[in-house]
Amino acid sequence: MLDSVIGLFACPHCESAMDLDDATVLCERGHSFDIARQGYVSLLTGAATRFTGDTAEMIADRAAFLGAGHYDPIRDAVATACASVPSDSGVLELGAGTGQYLASVLDGMPGSRGIGLDVSKPAVRRIARSHPRTGAVLADAWAQIPVRSGALGHVLSVFAPRNASEVHRVLEPGGTLVVATPTPDHLRELVSLPGMVSVDEHKTERLSAALSGRFERHERTEIRFTMELPRTALEALVGMGPSAFHLTVQQRAEMVEVLPDGFEVTASVVVSTWVRKDGAVSGD
Ligand SMILES: C[S@@+](CC[C@H](N)C(=O)[O-])C[C@H]1O[C@@H](n2cnc3c(N)ncnc32)[C@H](O)[C@@H]1O
Ligand SMILES: [Zn+2]
Repeated sequence: MLDSVIGLFACPHCESAMDLDDATVLCERGHSFDIARQGYVSLLTGAATRFTGDTAEMIADRAAFLGAGHYDPIRDAVATACASVPSDSGVLELGAGTGQYLASVLDGMPGSRGIGLDVSKPAVRRIARSHPRTGAVLADAWAQIPVRSGALGHVLSVFAPRNASEVHRVLEPGGTLVVATPTPDHLRELVSLPGMVSVDEHKTERLSAALSGRFERHERTEIRFTMELPRTALEALVGMGPSAFHLTVQQRAEMVEVLPDGFEVTASVVVSTWVRKDGAVSGD
């Protein structure tokens, strides 16, 4: 609910504190933002974003796949990484999708509250009802994040964008960024099929380069497991990923049709925890 996190918000126009007033989020200087009837607030500014995020179909597939528990080891590793650096200041998830990772982090930290930020409308609609202590915000993670400086104990980025300078700004001293990124082995049995998008081999190196000026790596956990997926789960998995942007529903269905019902797929993800460095910042 937005009322649990309103005190963390900063106006995207003037950075002043914000409050709730009926169906509006209002800043001290009078900038106002409507709360949608589905419960999220759009803090996108007039400068249109070039991102639209995931489609309604992708979000529905993601909710079904995660809801069936196939990625529970990843979800648990993210929750454990957060709980190992305790702070009840607040959690922000960038590109929160369905809000399921954030919900599990909040379940492990009963005194905290969360902001689920996503640039996709179907995502924030779902995030708004994902957890009683989560507020949903439509915003672009690559722009200024509409959160007060130093307000948060944790930021999460799970298969999602991160914005090193803004994450550094919104975290409190000693605050942590928890990042989950796929390794080149992630979903390798599917990625080798025609039309599927593969993981960039240098993703982990690029992540370190982008964060190391502002953050100190605290922990790194590799999670690897095999999923035996029925066809419905395979369809959801293909439908929720980047391949959904350039394969038609028909092409995806044909691809999955020829796979056995109970196809083994590898999950391989690194969950890393980065502690905010104080003082001068180098690099970008
Ligand atoms: C691969 S999904 C991951 C979602 C969720 N973290 C999960 O793992 O289930 C990436 C998410 O980032 C969102 N996204 C993409 N670009 C974004 C941006 N510029 N700002 C905010 N969210 C963005 C998409 O809409 C999508 O929900
Ligand atoms: Zn304002």
